[in-house]
Amino acid sequence: MTEKELCQKATEMLDMAYIPYSRFPVGAALECSDGTVYTGCNIENAAYGLTICAERTAIFKAVSEGHRDFVRLAIAGRSEDYCVPCGSCRQVMMEFAPELEVICLNGKGEAKRFALRELLPYGFDRSWL
Ligand code: THU
Repeated sequence: MTEKELCQKATEMLDMAYIPYSRFPVGAALECSDGTVYTGCNIENAAYGLTICAERTAIFKAVSEGHRDFVRLAIAGRSEDYCVPCGSCRQVMMEFAPELEVICLNGKGEAKRFALRELLPYGFDRSWL
């Protein structure tokens, strides 16, 4: 899949976001090393702390289907700013894919690319245990 197609899938997921509280939709599309793509959206809850981010939705869907080897993750938002992943999502990405490429999109569809290691320097992983 091209980067453009992956970003398109993340953007399509904005419409699936369950966001009655924040009204802030996020969509994600995660590409596995074998080319499989898992998508996700944010899913909020009246008990706010139970909200799950779009990125973790996609990652947990993938892991629960037997995929753990991820190469790229596109994250879409509708804001002027690029939609960057929260700290918890960065940590979950680090668990499975320290070399992940993270593509952050703004509402215009413009992309900014990061290496996960730039977003989470000195990230905690199994090597510290
Ligand atoms: N959100 C995500 O889905 N991903 C992030 O990395 C940042 C935050 C969601 C959670 C919540 O539903 C809304 O954005 C506002 O915080």
